[in-house]
Amino acid sequence: MNRRSYPGGVSSLLRIARFTRELTPLYLAIIACSVLTAVAGLAVPFLIGRATDTVAAALAGSTPVDAALRTAIWLAAALLLAELVQTVLSNVGGWYGDVMSNRMRTILSVRYYDKLLHLPQSWFDAELTGTIVARLNRSITEITNFAKMFSNMFATLLITTAAVLAISAWYAWPLTVLLLIVFPVYVWLTALTSKRWQRLEGDKNEQIDIASGRFAEVVGQIRVVKSFVRERSELQDFTTRFRATDSITAAQSSHWHRMDSLRRAVLNIVFFGIYAIIFERTVHGAFTLGEMVLLIQLMTMARQPVQNMSFVIDTAQHAIAGSKDYFRVMETEVDDRAASIMAQADDAQQASAPAPQLAPGQAMVSFDDVSFAYEKGEDVLHHISFDIAPGEKVALVGESGGGKSTIVNLLLGLYSAREGRIEVAGHQIDTIPLVRLRSRIGVVFQDAALFSGTIRENIAYGYPGATDEQVRAAAVRANADRFIERFEHGYDQVIGERGLKLSGGQRQRIAVARAILKDAPILVLDEATSALDTKAERQVQAGLDELMRGRTSLIIAHRLSTIAGVDRIVTLRDGRVDEIGSPAELAVSGGIYAQLLELQTAGNTKKLASFDITG
Ligand SMILES: Nc1ncnc2c1ncn2[C@@H]1O[C@H](COP(=O)(O)OP(=O)(O)OP(=O)(O)O)[C@@H](O)[C@H]1O
Ligand SMILES: [Mg+2]
Repeated sequence: MNRRSYPGGVSSLLRIARFTRELTPLYLAIIACSVLTAVAGLAVPFLIGRATDTVAAALAGSTPVDAALRTAIWLAAALLLAELVQTVLSNVGGWYGDVMSNRMRTILSVRYYDKLLHLPQSWFDAELTGTIVARLNRSITEITNFAKMFSNMFATLLITTAAVLAISAWYAWPLTVLLLIVFPVYVWLTALTSKRWQRLEGDKNEQIDIASGRFAEVVGQIRVVKSFVRERSELQDFTTRFRATDSITAAQSSHWHRMDSLRRAVLNIVFFGIYAIIFERTVHGAFTLGEMVLLIQLMTMARQPVQNMSFVIDTAQHAIAGSKDYFRVMETEVDDRAASIMAQADDAQQASAPAPQLAPGQAMVSFDDVSFAYEKGEDVLHHISFDIAPGEKVALVGESGGGKSTIVNLLLGLYSAREGRIEVAGHQIDTIPLVRLRSRIGVVFQDAALFSGTIRENIAYGYPGATDEQVRAAAVRANADRFIERFEHGYDQVIGERGLKLSGGQRQRIAVARAILKDAPILVLDEATSALDTKAERQVQAGLDELMRGRTSLIIAHRLSTIAGVDRIVTLRDGRVDEIGSPAELAVSGGIYAQLLELQTAGNTKKLASFDITG
């Protein structure tokens, strides 16, 4: 993982503002509230200063006590008003701040998810789910925290600072000079601290992201962890990562506090000078007692922005780091075709895509000299060429890892071929909108991945508008109806994360039903019945045979009995097409199919009797 860098902060922040432009009215409302709060706040020292002078005059006997008292009470009332205004406005501003930051989180989260859903499959191959989630949560929290803090504090801070500078210049310019020195020095020291602090924060986040990624993976596959008794070592790894953040935090915090001592000491010394000047001037009669009280209060008010400034900078640095992580994902290149998926998604909800128009003699699926590598590594597929005619059933046979599932991935457009052409219904798949391509292909994946939720939702995943009858009909054809009915809640049975509460074979039958309901013209079955016993497989197969009638089908199965009825078989060896022919031809050719056939039948002569390779 590359170390994160943090230049160009302001542009990152402006980018967030541009990215969430629709929140501008809220930003303005918040700023208005902050400005008014600041103005009301500035009235306080003046009122107290006036009150001090009034009381001092009464004590000195230069004003009648009655009149002084009346004035003082009026001033106290004005003070009350100023403070009430502050109380109300800061709460109204706080409300706007909460609403704004939550809407910002909604916007950022939705766009992130939208983006993720359109990233290519290869992006997901390289990332751990838990890491993606941890990073998303952190970066969005950091950005919204900053937005909230910034909008609630920044305007007040700016107004107060400007006012304090102007007022102090009016009374005594040396005070202004000292304040003008302290601001940049403080900000500079803070920025200096933040650089190292942020680097350490990045190191810490990296550890946490890795630990979270593993955490999610372990929780998701807890059965494997338990069966191999790896709880201790998984916990150990997790502990090591978090312990590493302990030591990083210690270094980070000691650095921060040392620098904070330094910058606050600078602040203390400057304020020593400021107070000395104020006292000296007052003693020499340049200021009245009231003016002295006013100035002391103003100076105290000036301290606040200075110290808040470091907080603003810290939070800003967090937000900058967060926004970089965020925009790095947002900037990932997405295939134009993928970007249009959302726009076309409504078409895809239609279960049956319009049947593609084919010229006579044209293949429905055609691989022409296709080579492919997952990453920059070695090719997994070498010069693959084969055709599937409309309505034809073709099986892929080859050893494990030979590239069969990879061919399915390419056909679905999950990856792009490095070389060669793949055509569906006469169109090169790079030129067909992905939604149209994928809506034409019903697929049962090798790992029958289901979702949490009910059985009904899972079967209807590709066709959310399906009626109960349609769902049931699909389940019957997949031989799933009987076991579903036996559940307490039937089709409304909740099946756990990724369908964990179902048996492997039950999951597979749901996945088959899901593909059946999609009713697409091209059917791809990647080991669709591998988890079923022979009897259940026969029954599902009967449903599938009926489904395949008139449909173009690509079937992958290790159990050769499953594919005995296909029209043609393509055998793969080391990612190359070895032979293409009918089951009968290949059974006697001495190639992979013949060898596998011999191996599978040798141990099971009983099965041989019912095994019809001439199908
Ligand atoms: N996402 C991926 N990233 C990188 N390499 C991959 C990926 N998926 C598969 N491979 C590699 O590609 C090769 C072909 O895998 P593929 O899944 O196509 O085999 P298969 O013929 O379907 O095998 P099986 O019969 O066991 O399912 C394997 O060597 C595998 O390691
Ligand atoms: Mg496979």
